Amino acid sequence: MKISSTEFVKSAFAEEGWPRVTLPEVAFLGRSNVGKSSVINSLLGVRGLARTSSTPGRTQALNFFLINKRLHFVDLPGYGYARVPRDVRESWGEIVTNYLAKRESLVLSIQIVDSRHEPTTLDLQLREWLQAHEKPFLTVATKSDKLSNNELRKNLESAHKLLGGRNQVIAYSAVTKRGRDEVWRAIEEAVTVSQSPFLKSEK
Ligand code: GTP
Ligand code: MG
Repeated sequence: MKISSTEFVKSAFAEEGWPRVTLPEVAFLGRSNVGKSSVINSLLGVRGLARTSSTPGRTQALNFFLINKRLHFVDLPGYGYARVPRDVRESWGEIVTNYLAKRESLVLSIQIVDSRHEPTTLDLQLREWLQAHEKPFLTVATKSDKLSNNELRKNLESAHKLLGGRNQVIAYSAVTKRGRDEVWRAIEEAVTVSQSPFLKSEK
């Protein structure tokens, strides 16, 4: 997709703050600090639209972005950062699964994992939740620039066994832009397939 405009829409802490359902939405999910915001920025070819940070676990809000006035990207809070207070950790599940379960306009969930490590228990739980709720998803293994080709191939195989299901796990790097075209193809397909009633009623 050629990117002609990107815009920060809003941060929402509660459901009341979600933007009105008008456009197909793609959600980015994963462990704290795994590289979610960097995936968003690199897909869009912009710097700093989604805020990146080397301090994990800061954001508990859902951040909405408008792309080409045609779809939303949603940067979701990261999970699994141990130094976050327990009540914040517990609210993660509620905030995020509430959004994933209820959001009618959600057409694709992109689960981001770290290509350097085995998927974590929380990665597996999220993946099971998405599957059990029949949510279309895609698995992206990021930071692939930090591995040799050999290591990457091995890790992708094991991530695919654990997480991929019918889908391939896409090797990604926000630094080299590896995987960018593949992820865009999946997004475009999900948006096209989603000619659902809520979209038609807007036309
Ligand atoms: P939270 O919002 O805190 O959960 O983090 P996040 O998942 O949005 O991660 P973010 O994009 O902020 O990236 C975390 C750190 O990893 C930053 O220091 C990034 O520069 C670095 N990083 C992200 N993606 C890549 C990548 O593909 N390659 C390399 N080498 N570094 C990356
Ligand atoms: Mg982030």
